[in-house]
Amino acid sequence: MERELAMELVRVTEVAALASARWMGTGKKMEADDAATTAMRRMFDTVNMNGIVVIGEGEMDEAPMLYIGEHLGTGSAPEVDVAVDPLEGTNIVAKGLWNAITVVAAAPRGTLLHAPDMYMEKIAAGPRAKGRIHLDATVKENLMEVAKANDKHISEVVAILLDRPRHESLIEEIRSAGARIKLITDGDVAAAINTAFEEVGVDIMFGTGGAPEGVLAAAALKCLGGEFQGRLVPQDDAERERCRTMGIGDPRKVLTLEDLVRGDDAIFAATGVTEGELLHGVRFLSKNTAKTHSLVMRARTGTVRFIEARHRLDRKPHLVLR
Ligand code: FBP
Repeated sequence: MERELAMELVRVTEVAALASARWMGTGKKMEADDAATTAMRRMFDTVNMNGIVVIGEGEMDEAPMLYIGEHLGTGSAPEVDVAVDPLEGTNIVAKGLWNAITVVAAAPRGTLLHAPDMYMEKIAAGPRAKGRIHLDATVKENLMEVAKANDKHISEVVAILLDRPRHESLIEEIRSAGARIKLITDGDVAAAINTAFEEVGVDIMFGTGGAPEGVLAAAALKCLGGEFQGRLVPQDDAERERCRTMGIGDPRKVLTLEDLVRGDDAIFAATGVTEGELLHGVRFLSKNTAKTHSLVMRARTGTVRFIEARHRLDRKPHLVLR
């Protein structure tokens, strides 16, 4: 893939962030999501690529746009799989909480796992812990490995996970191993990414969240040289059947980073919508301007860029919702 695509994808996440940030604190998560999806979809028309959505807003009959199988881009090379989460953290925006982001990943056609929309058990950590953690290891073993990898005592390790009743026993295990915990309301893509940035202060992510978000987080960790593994958690026969029809023979197999994102040619872009530890949220400034803060990375080169952009909203009237 051409490296220019990375910049084009940031424009896509920026515009989605600008559109959805308008809904911060309104209590309207659907509207925030629609705004991000519409803006993102529109911007994709300008991107030079022949993309097909493999992770998107749902099946064709469930989502009006950015549905699985939808063709995106101008149609010119490169041929890519596209994974999107136009607004990762709809509730976060509705409540004005932390770490909502807009997310896109692209990789050569056929290299992103077509993950079904169900739960996935996940584990993620930064580059120093690569190859040292495993979903089949115990929580304590993983925490001890991360402590060693990050040259810390286990009491200094911070595990980040979604605050959900299903994580009660996981929380107990982390506590009895002696590590610290950061619970989040939503947004496990940002949580997984944050494990790769020492200054953010989280060392490992555990827990069960959305499988589509798992593929996006895997693309990010691949670019960052970190570790990510997932295991689908089908809840019933219908979900097990869904795995089979999607070509996933053993739904309980541990999916490695390579299973989730094959090869080393992925691009990942995200823009902050609300304030976060890694990315600032959208800031609307005087004189019809707004600032965005984005992260864009390429797995092939390992380049990680933070992009701060100032936008003239009077020249982007479709983003002004007054
Ligand atoms: P939305 O942006 O679609 O609301 O998803 C947010 C999220 O917290 C993800 O980050 C996470 O993977 C998933 O929801 C967890 O699902 P659940 O809320 O059912 O526990």
